[in-house]
Amino acid sequence: MQFAHQVTHPDEPVIIARSAQMRRVLDLAARAAQSEATVLIQGETGTGKELVARTIHCKSKRRTGPFVAVNCGAYSDSLLASELFGHQRGAFTGAIADRVGVFEAAAGGTVFLDEIGATSPAMQVKLLRVLQERRVTRVGSSLERAVDTRVVAATNADLAELVRDKTFREDLYYRVKVVSSRIPPLRERPDDIKPLIDHYLEHFANANAKTDIHLSPEAERVLINHRWPGNVRQLCGEIEQIVAMAPSGTIIKPRELSEDLDERPPGGDPGAAETPLPNASSSAVTSTNDTEATYQQLLDEWTRDVVARRLDHFAGNITKTAQSLAISRSTLYALLRKYGMRGQED
Ligand SMILES: Nc1ncnc2c1ncn2[C@@H]1O[C@H](COP(=O)(O)OP(=O)(O)O)[C@@H](O)[C@H]1O
Ligand SMILES: [Mg+2]
Repeated sequence: MQFAHQVTHPDEPVIIARSAQMRRVLDLAARAAQSEATVLIQGETGTGKELVARTIHCKSKRRTGPFVAVNCGAYSDSLLASELFGHQRGAFTGAIADRVGVFEAAAGGTVFLDEIGATSPAMQVKLLRVLQERRVTRVGSSLERAVDTRVVAATNADLAELVRDKTFREDLYYRVKVVSSRIPPLRERPDDIKPLIDHYLEHFANANAKTDIHLSPEAERVLINHRWPGNVRQLCGEIEQIVAMAPSGTIIKPRELSEDLDERPPGGDPGAAETPLPNASSSAVTSTNDTEATYQQLLDEWTRDVVARRLDHFAGNITKTAQSLAISRSTLYALLRKYGMRGQED
């Protein structure tokens, strides 16, 4: 059986953190790195939990040791037990040799337990024992071995809620969240979007030996206003794709962006499913800096906003949206292309 987990000796990762929220996360990570305390990192998928875990490892005195990441949600119970604790030859069918588990493999370093909220009650009991006693027993063995690993855990579920629902043990919860950090979704820290775009444009341009790929102001606005349900991972993938498709010296237009980039509802309740129609008192202009924008930019932004809301109101229906705006369908199509939006044929 092969090791499914990853043993690495990572360099300290580059983390873009312009927003106050993200700087707080990094401050806490730096302080946590000075201790041996178990850390719990909560956040939606793609927000950077593993990146922060690696940062903690790289800033800690365990930095020269291994960093081992294991996704607890990716295994059946018995495979996870063998993955984490190791097994002895003959412990079960297929256990043809002794095998060290993650806790032993990461001796002197850090174990990253990803998706700890996905573990079964039986596994939670075992993890509690490891965290309390700092000892592991390989599956099929009775010999206890001392564990010299620091634990950083992550979850995209709300662990406190899982505790209330009795699907996550309260005692393990408190053992895990000695230090706890929550990384907000990207849509709650829009200040990070532009620097992330710039960072990844440069990164992927370098990786692909391309130069001078820039976003038009309109394309940039679409990216900044997107809700990014997949958070930084999704943004990173979008920029990678843009750079892959664009020759050097391109200015990217909205129509060159992925079709599924939706617009964040202006005024931004992230959970809002429906966007209200604009009324006279609520300014539709949301992102352009008023003291710098040209008349055309402001007009574009206002138009995009009105079209997005109206389209939303008619559930994306092209004919109804065009009728209600008293424009032809082809004019509406041109606007949608211009602003990187999409509607639905009826
Ligand atoms: N603040 C950030 N700066 C730069 N890259 C980031 C940042 N946050 C996340 N990423 C990148 O986004 C992707 C997802 O991050 P990851 O740590 O795996 O998220 P999670 O573990 O929360 O799902 C990775 O490629 C990571 O390098
Ligand atoms: Mg992850």
